[in-house]
Amino acid sequence: MVWEKHKQRMLGFALLLVLLCALGGAEGREEVQRHGHISVVIVGGTGDLAKKYLWQGFFQLYVKEINSGNSFSFHGGGLSPIEKGKPVLFEILKAVSCPKAVSEERCAVLKEQFLRLSQYRQLKTLEDYQALSKQIEKQLQEEGMTEAGRLFYLSVPAFAYSGVSEKINSSCRPSGGAWLRVVLEKPFGHDLSSAQALASQLGNSLKEEEMYRIDHYLGKQAVSKILPFRLENKKNLNPIWNKHHIERVEIVLKETLDVKGRIHFYDQYGVVRDVLQNHLTEVMMLLTMKLPKNISNAEEVNQNKLQILSSLLPLGKNQAVVGQYQSYKTEVQQELNQTTDQSVSLTPTFAAVVAHIDNALYEGVPILFVSGKRLNERVGYARVLFKNNIFCLQDHNSVHCKPKQIVFYFGHGSLQYPAILVSKNLFKPALMGKEWMEVTEHKNVSVLGLPITDYYVQTPREQRDAYAELISHIYAAHKSSFVSTEILLGSWYMWTPLLTSLKDTFPRNYPGGADNAGLLDICLDGNDITFNNMEVIINHDQMGSSSASGFKAMQGKFRSADMVSAWTEELVETLAVDLQAAAEAAVHEEGVFHLAVSGGSTPLALFYQLVLHHSTFPWRSTHVWMVDERCVPLTELDSNFHNLHEHLLQHVKIPYYNIHPMPVQLNQRLCVEEDGGALVYERELSKMVVNSSFHFVLLGVGYDGHTASLFPGEKVNEHGESLVALTESPNKPHQRMSLTFNAINQAHRVALLVMGKGKHELVTQVSRIKDVSDKWPVTRVKPTHGTLVWYIDYDALIG
Ligand SMILES: *[C@@H]1O[C@H](CO)[C@@H](O)[C@H](O)[C@H]1NC(C)=O
Ligand SMILES: *[C@@H]1O[C@H](CO)[C@@H](O)[C@H](O)[C@H]1NC(C)=O
Ligand SMILES: *[C@@H]1O[C@H](CO)[C@@H](O)[C@H](O)[C@H]1NC(C)=O
Ligand SMILES: *[C@@H]1O[C@H](CO)[C@@H](O)[C@H](O)[C@H]1NC(C)=O
Ligand SMILES: *[C@@H]1O[C@H](CO)[C@@H](O)[C@H](O)[C@H]1NC(C)=O
Repeated sequence: MVWEKHKQRMLGFALLLVLLCALGGAEGREEVQRHGHISVVIVGGTGDLAKKYLWQGFFQLYVKEINSGNSFSFHGGGLSPIEKGKPVLFEILKAVSCPKAVSEERCAVLKEQFLRLSQYRQLKTLEDYQALSKQIEKQLQEEGMTEAGRLFYLSVPAFAYSGVSEKINSSCRPSGGAWLRVVLEKPFGHDLSSAQALASQLGNSLKEEEMYRIDHYLGKQAVSKILPFRLENKKNLNPIWNKHHIERVEIVLKETLDVKGRIHFYDQYGVVRDVLQNHLTEVMMLLTMKLPKNISNAEEVNQNKLQILSSLLPLGKNQAVVGQYQSYKTEVQQELNQTTDQSVSLTPTFAAVVAHIDNALYEGVPILFVSGKRLNERVGYARVLFKNNIFCLQDHNSVHCKPKQIVFYFGHGSLQYPAILVSKNLFKPALMGKEWMEVTEHKNVSVLGLPITDYYVQTPREQRDAYAELISHIYAAHKSSFVSTEILLGSWYMWTPLLTSLKDTFPRNYPGGADNAGLLDICLDGNDITFNNMEVIINHDQMGSSSASGFKAMQGKFRSADMVSAWTEELVETLAVDLQAAAEAAVHEEGVFHLAVSGGSTPLALFYQLVLHHSTFPWRSTHVWMVDERCVPLTELDSNFHNLHEHLLQHVKIPYYNIHPMPVQLNQRLCVEEDGGALVYERELSKMVVNSSFHFVLLGVGYDGHTASLFPGEKVNEHGESLVALTESPNKPHQRMSLTFNAINQAHRVALLVMGKGKHELVTQVSRIKDVSDKWPVTRVKPTHGTLVWYIDYDALIG
C-alpha cells in the first residue's frame, strides 16, 4: 500500500540516520590544519575532466597558496605505462593559464615551477600505490619536510571507486597526523540501494571526514552565496520567507545540448538521476533549510539539510511529468548498435517535478524542479517567486504591480554571468562581500519576465570556475561544500520511489530547441503536476505497446452488491474519486457531508490519496465520525483517532468542531459501561446527522471477517436499536467502541475496502456465503435504503 510504503520510508529514513550516527558517520570533526608538504594525486589524471578542469584548478590553488608556508607535489595517475602517459600529461600541463592579475613574466615562472612539481605515474596495481607512497615518504625525508596531508582526486568511473579507495587505505595513508582527503565525483549510485552499497564499500576504506563528494553545483558562485545571502538579508527575508508570502520556488537547469556520445551512460540514468537527484536537490536544500547559526559549521549545515529532506512529502508519479527529445531514440540505436525492433528507451531527457515540504513554514508551497536537454536555451537559476496581492487598475507597469522575486542566476542565458537579482519592489539587498559588486550598467535584457532595470543586480567581480572553487574548499577542508553520506542517501530516499513509479511511463516526445514552443509548459494542480498543453504526440512505438498503460478499474458484482476491482493504486484512486463525488453531492443538496471512517491500516492509503490529490475535497462542510475506536487514550499510537489525525485530519483544512472522536475516556477511565460513552456518541450522532443516516461509511474487513469493531460471536441482537455499543475484541486492546450494524445499515452509502494478497482467502470464503452469518460479521452489512460497494484490489480478489 502506498501509505504503508511511505511509513516504511520515513521509518527507514530515521533508521538510516541512527545507523549512520552509530557508525560515527555524522561527525564532521574538523582536522587540525598544520603547515608542511601536500601531495596531490589525480587518479585518472589524463582523462577529460582532469584535462578540462582539474589541472587548471590545482594550478590556481598552487598560485594562490604559493606563500602559504605549504609546499606541494602533484601526481597525475593513469592506467597507461609511463612512456604513454607522460607526454599526454605534459600537453595538459602546458595549457594551464594564470589568473588575470598575474603578469606574463611571472606566469611563465609559475608554470615552469608547476611543471617541475608535477609528474605522471602509472597507478594500476597495489604495488603502484605502494611505490607512490614510498616515493612521497622518501621525498619528505630527503628534504626534511613534515607532511601536512595527501589529497587524492578520483577522476575515474564510479565502479573503480572502491578498488582505488582500498588501495589508498591499505598503502597510501599518511602517518604522523597528516590528513587524507579523497575526492569523488558523481554518479554516486543509481538508486537508494546501489548508493547504500557504494557508501558502505567506501566506508570500509575511508572515514566520513576523509571523503569529499563533489557536486560541482556547490562550487557555482551564485549557489555558494545562497546561504550567505539569506543570512545577510535576514531582516528583510524573515517576514516573507514562508508559505504566506512565497508563491512557489523554481529550480531550473535548461540545456541546449543533446547527449550524443554519452548515451551509453545517459540511457541508464536519465535526467532525474543526472541532474535533479543531485544538483537541483542541493539548491533546494540551501533555499529551504533552517538557517544555521554558523554557516561555516559543516555539521550544523548537514543537520539542517537532513531536516528538510526528511520533511518532504513522498513523490508519486502525479508529481512528475517527463519528456524525451525526438532524435534520442535514433541516437540510442546508433550508439548502442540496436536494431529498430529492440526495446525502446523510455529514459527521460526532460523532467518537471513538484515537491512539497511538510512543515509549518513551507506547507503548501510548490517546489518545482525542472531540467532538460535540447531545450531552447542554456540557463540555470533558482527563483523564489513571492505572492503579489496588489491589484493595479491602470498602470500595470508601475513597480508595485510587477512580479516580486529573488533570482539566483547560475549563469548563461540572457545575462551570461552569475548574479543575484532582487526585484526592486522587494528590498535592496546587502552586497555579498568585497568579491561581489553591484551591476548598474545593463544591456537591454529581461530576466524571467522582468526587465533587468527592475532588479537590484549583483555579480562576482571575477567569474570563477566551480571546480577551481571546490578545489580550494577541499584544501581548506570546508566540508559544507561537499555531499555527506547522509545527504546522499537522504536524497536517494527522496527520488528512488519516483524513479520506480516512472519506470514504465512514456515520456512526451519533443522536437528540441525553439520548436518545443509550449509543448513542455507545465501546470500545477494542487499537489500534482501536468503538462499544460494536453495535446499528445503519439508515435509508432507508443501505439504498439498498450499493455504498459496498465489496467483500468473493473466493475462487477460481489455477494450481489456492486464491486469495483483494480490494482491497488487505481483502486484507491477510484475510491477517492467516488468519495469526493459523494461529498460534493451531499454538500450541494444538504450543505453538509457526514462521513464515518473505520480504524486499522486499510484506509491509510485512501487518506494519503485524499491528502495529496484531492485538494478540492469539501472538507469545510464535512463531518468526520468514527466507525470504531479502541479503548485507549486518544493520544496513544494504538488509537484509531490518533491514526486518523496523523494521516488525514492534520493535513486537510477541516474545522475543529466537525471532528467527532469517540468518547472512550470519561471520568478518567476507559470505556466503563456506567460512564455511558456509547450513549453520549449516539446522542451526538442523532442530533447532528439527519435520520442518523451517514452519507458515507468506510469499512474494512479483518482476517476473521470482523468489520467495524463487530467481531465473530458478537451477539448483535443485544445491540437492539442502539447505534453505538461497547464491544469485545479477541485481540488487544480487547475493549472497543463501535457503530452497530443498525447504524451502519442506515447509511446512504457503505464502502467496504479489501486489499492485499493476505485477504484473498477471506474474500473467497465470504463470496460463498449466501446470507448473513454470525461467523462472518461482515455479511451483516446490508444497507436498508442505501447502497453497498465493495472495493477489492486484484491481489485480494485473485490472490
Ligand atoms: C583501512 O585499512 C585498515 C587495515 O589496513 C583497516 O583496519 C581499516 O578498518 C580500514 N578502514 C579505515 C576507514 O580506516
Ligand atoms: C563557525 O564554525 C566554524 C567551523 O566549525 C568555526 O571555525 C568558527 O569559529 C565558527 N564561528 C562562530 C562564530 O562560532
Ligand atoms: C557498435 O558498433 C561499433 C562498430 O561496429 C563498435 O565500434 C562499437 O563499440 C559498438 N558499440 C557498442 C555499444 O556495442
Ligand atoms: C529593448 O529591447 C526590446 C525588445 O527587444 C525593445 O522593444 C526595446 O525598444 C529595447 N529598448 C532599448 C532601450 O533599446
Ligand atoms: C428521513 O426519514 C424520513 C422518514 O423515514 C424520510 O421521509 C426522509 O426523506 C429522510 N431524510 C433523509 C434526508 O434521508
